[in-house]
Amino acid sequence: MAAPPETAVGPVAAKTAAGIRFDHVSVAYGDHTVLDGLDLTVEPGEVMALLGPSGSGKTTALRAVAGFVTPVSGRVLIGGRDVTALPPYKRGIGMVVQSYALFPHLRVADNVAFGLKARKVPRAEIEPRVTEALELTGMAGYARRYPRELSGGQQQRVAIARALAIRPGVLLLDEPLSALDAQLRSGMLAELTRLHRELPDVSILYVTHDQVEALTLADRIAVMDRARLRDCGTPRELYRAPRTEFTASFVGNANLLPVTAGPGDATVTFGNRELAVRGTEGVAPGAAATLCVRPHLVGLGEGPNALRGRLAELQWRGATHRLYVEVAGHRVMADVRELRTAPAVGDEVTLHFAPEDGVLLPAEAGADG
Ligand SMILES: Nc1ncnc2c1ncn2[C@@H]1O[C@H](COP(=O)(O)OP(=O)(O)O)[C@@H](O)[C@H]1O
Ligand SMILES: [Mg+2]
Repeated sequence: MAAPPETAVGPVAAKTAAGIRFDHVSVAYGDHTVLDGLDLTVEPGEVMALLGPSGSGKTTALRAVAGFVTPVSGRVLIGGRDVTALPPYKRGIGMVVQSYALFPHLRVADNVAFGLKARKVPRAEIEPRVTEALELTGMAGYARRYPRELSGGQQQRVAIARALAIRPGVLLLDEPLSALDAQLRSGMLAELTRLHRELPDVSILYVTHDQVEALTLADRIAVMDRARLRDCGTPRELYRAPRTEFTASFVGNANLLPVTAGPGDATVTFGNRELAVRGTEGVAPGAAATLCVRPHLVGLGEGPNALRGRLAELQWRGATHRLYVEVAGHRVMADVRELRTAPAVGDEVTLHFAPEDGVLLPAEAGADG
């Protein structure tokens, strides 16, 4: 695709790679801190997911980048420039929210042109840029329609086109798929991946509470909980080597077993069993810790780290069976390929897992919120 001519549409004239940096950003409503000292960098062209439960501060973080909330302390940088005091329209950002927020009385083309007109882009520029944005989102044939004449998925595409028309260096997406049904959602997820391939310079901050969206789309995931950043890494790192119990249970399923470190190197004690794990760095010998093992990495039958116990529950899930086995007073989950001859509830069974699949996490201080 030939690069379209650049037009100055404001101080942060777009289409140049611009990263985002949160420099110890805190936001409070009254004396309620809802974002607590966030330090996070989104590299130019990177897709960063902000993942966390409802109320954890994700939207607030996004609005701080957009300029709709003012931090009580800290700075927001876009493309290396401190924008903390700039109004939203001067930040070179495009934003899409869950509810689309299209103007109902404007046709699709006028919705998409809105930001360009507001930025006083010359008339002759507007039409080609609207066409470009509608083509990017697969909505070229709908320019004359009104929002009410579109499906939810089509409205969301128009909202994305409108955000892209100003050629933002940074695209902010706040739960953009959560108003769509499951089937549309997975289609749009693929669309967003394609869109980012076509706009590799645009940095995307993608807010979601849905781990599948985060794992599918993001280069890195920032995990939020109760106003704080809890973890940050590539999807694979967070899945394979979570640093906190919160991440382990929020990104994928996890067995979280109470253990003590030792007695040997890279071993832990669970009940009266000694288990070999990937490592025990950061946990003193004899200290309480949590062993994280993903259920799909637990096998049925004899093997390393054998755990014998009683089958408490068996669920058939189509391609897999989920087993719940009582071991040392805890239920260990195992997801195994569908069994031809499944054990019965009450049977003695043996589970096992490879030492490299046992990740030791520091025990979390009790409820601190
Ligand atoms: N305008 C506001 N006034 C007061 N409290 C707010 C406002 N917006 C958000 N909050 C509170 O801030 C916290 C974080 O909200 P939010 O950032 O929207 O979380 P998330 O997007 O992760 O669900 C919540 O406790 C919410 O109730
Ligand atoms: Mg939110």
